[in-house]
Amino acid sequence: MSATTENRIALVTGASRGIGRVIAEKLAEAGYHLAICGTRPETIEQAADAIRAASGVEVLARAVNVAERDEIQTFVQETAKHYGRLDVLVNNAGITRDNISMRMKPEEWQQVIDTNLSSVFHAMQAALRPMMKARGGRIINISSVVASMGNPGQLNYCASKGGIDAMTRSLAREIGSRGITVNAIAPGFIATDMTAELGEDANRALAEQIPLGRLGQPEDVAAAVVFLAGDGGGYITGQVLHVNGGMYM
Ligand code: NAI
Repeated sequence: MSATTENRIALVTGASRGIGRVIAEKLAEAGYHLAICGTRPETIEQAADAIRAASGVEVLARAVNVAERDEIQTFVQETAKHYGRLDVLVNNAGITRDNISMRMKPEEWQQVIDTNLSSVFHAMQAALRPMMKARGGRIINISSVVASMGNPGQLNYCASKGGIDAMTRSLAREIGSRGITVNAIAPGFIATDMTAELGEDANRALAEQIPLGRLGQPEDVAAAVVFLAGDGGGYITGQVLHVNGGMYM
């Protein structure tokens, strides 16, 4: 545990599984106490129990729908009140509702915008009060490589992630003087349950498009989060850090 992480508090959204779960685990290993949320009470409690057992840190776990302004803002406020501070906010929760643009339904557009984009604004807004009071903080938003590349069938998702990149730069300019950094991490193809289901051939074809010759692991993304949250990230703000094995540069 370094001086940076001792008694530091990190909130991670969408931490019941996938990339968010590993981000929470790695922050706990680094010594952060956590607040984590997911959609279902059972799965987020299971994640919290596993993290407590492995790292011995305190974990506040809640079922929260980040798409609901009141729910996510209340969770951020509860975290700051419970621990008396909030050092790191990781906006990771995200969904896809893919469809070709001509057929995209209004609800497919709106669900993705509410869950991936508006939630990030609402969480950041609630985090600013405790961070400004402490004259410091780190906000890390999980974007995607497709915000820069585009992707057929993902107009809604690409719009949400592009919006995250733009909000990240705007807030970084607004609150840099308060000692708060705001960055995004844009993962490429990350090996998750979703990519495993595509099968070996599809995974090999994906890997061939990547200069480093493999899909990323959730750990690759988590390592970037821990870096930006820690001492080494202190002079980095307004950036989109691509963690993609070189598939986009
Ligand atoms: P996942 O589907 O495995 O996990 C998503 C997490 O978000 C879960 O914990 C889920 O409970 C939570 N979540 C979803 N909707 C929520 C809501 N309304 N309220 C609260 N929590 C909610 O997803 P994965 O693959 O781990 O992705 C995590 C983030 O990384 C997302 O923002 C995704 O867009 C991004 N990403 C993922 C890539 C990949 O290859 N898996 C590539 C680029 C970006």
